[in-house]
Amino acid sequence: QADERESMYLVSEFARDYFEDVLWNTEPGKAIGLTYFKERGFTDETIRKFGLGYSPDEWEAFTKEALSKGYQLEFLEKTGLTIVKEDGRGGGSRQFDRFKGRVMFPIQSMSGRVLGFGGRILKSDKKAAKYLNSPETEIYHKSKVLYGIYHARQAIAREDNCFLVEGYTDVIQFHQRGIENVVASSGTALTPEQIRLIHRLTNNITVLFDGDAAGLRASLRGVDLILEQGMNVKVCALPDGEDPDSFARENTLEDIVLFLQEKATDFIRFKASVLMEEAKDDPIRKAETIRDIVNSIGKIPDRIQREVYVQECSRIMDISEEVLFNTLAQIGRKEV
Ligand code: CTP
Ligand code: MN
Ligand code: MN
Ligand code: MN
Ligand code: MN
Repeated sequence: QADERESMYLVSEFARDYFEDVLWNTEPGKAIGLTYFKERGFTDETIRKFGLGYSPDEWEAFTKEALSKGYQLEFLEKTGLTIVKEDGRGGGSRQFDRFKGRVMFPIQSMSGRVLGFGGRILKSDKKAAKYLNSPETEIYHKSKVLYGIYHARQAIAREDNCFLVEGYTDVIQFHQRGIENVVASSGTALTPEQIRLIHRLTNNITVLFDGDAAGLRASLRGVDLILEQGMNVKVCALPDGEDPDSFARENTLEDIVLFLQEKATDFIRFKASVLMEEAKDDPIRKAETIRDIVNSIGKIPDRIQREVYVQECSRIMDISEEVLFNTLAQIGRKEV
C-alpha cells in the first residue's frame, strides 16, 4: 500500500517534470502553452514557481514517454494520467492521455508532493469542460486538498491569516503581486478537512469571492464550517465582475492591500447586514434570516464569543437580544 502510493507520487512528479519540459522546450509548448500563460500576465518566474506545464495535443505522447522511461502502466492508470479503454473486440485495449492539449497546473500537498493536476482547455469554443482535474485517487482526495497550500504555508503562519479564493489562477496571480498567504478550494464546496489544513497554520480566514451573486451565495455556504472550528472568518466581496485573478492583474499591491483592509468584514456582521437588507420589511423572510444568523452564531464553540455576536446582531438587525438568545437556545437543543 505504501509502496503503491509512493509509485503514484513518483509517476505524478515525472508527469509534472514532463509537462514543464514540454512547455519550455518544445515548439507547441512554447507557441501554445507558454504564450497562453504569458497572455494571462504570468512571468517566467511565476510559471516556474508553480511548475506550470503543457500536455501535447496528441493521443498518447505523455503515456509513451512515461512507459519508455520505465514507469508502469498500472500507476499511470491509477493516477488517472492515462486512460485505458477496452477495445471490445479481441480483448485488446487502447490508452490515451487524460490531459491532451491542456495547460497544466500541478496540485501539491502541504509538503510539496504532487498529488494530481488541473488541466485548462485553451480554446473556449470547445464543448469540453474548461478545467479537467485528476480523478479521486489513493493520493488525491479532492476534499482534503487546497490548491497552493505548499507555496502559502509559511506566509499563512507569518501573516496569521489565510485568503481563500476559488481558482488556480486566483492563487497564482495573488502570489505574483506579492500576496502569498492564499489558497483555493478549486471550485468545490469547502470541507472540514480543508479548513483543518489551514487551521494548523492560523486561526484566521478571509474568504474572497467573485463580485457577483453566485460568488456571494457560494461563499455564504461553507463558512459555518469555519466557525465550527472556532476560527475567525472575514469575507470580502470583490468589485462587480472581478475575480481575484483579474483584480490582482489590474491593481497594484498597495491598492489590493488597501482594498482588502477596507472591505474585509467580519462574517456574522456581514451576513446579518446583507440578509437583513434583502429581507427588508417582509416579516417571514426576516424571521428566516434571524434563524439563519443565529444558526451561524450557534456554530461558534466559544460561549463568550457567541454572546458578543448576539449583542452585535441585535443592534444590526434591530431585534432584542432576548429573542436572539431564545432562538439560540432552541437551535442548540435541536442540533445537539
Ligand atoms: N473548476 C473546475 N472545473 C470546471 C470549472 C472550474 O474544476 N469546469 C474549478 C477550477 O479549480 C477553477 C475554479 O473552479 O480554478 C474556479 O472556476 P472559475 O471561476 O470558473 O475559473 P477561473 O479560476 O476563474 O479560471 P479562468 O480564469 O482560467 O477562466
Ligand atoms: Mn484555533
Ligand atoms: Mn467563478
Ligand atoms: Mn474565477
Ligand atoms: Mn478567472
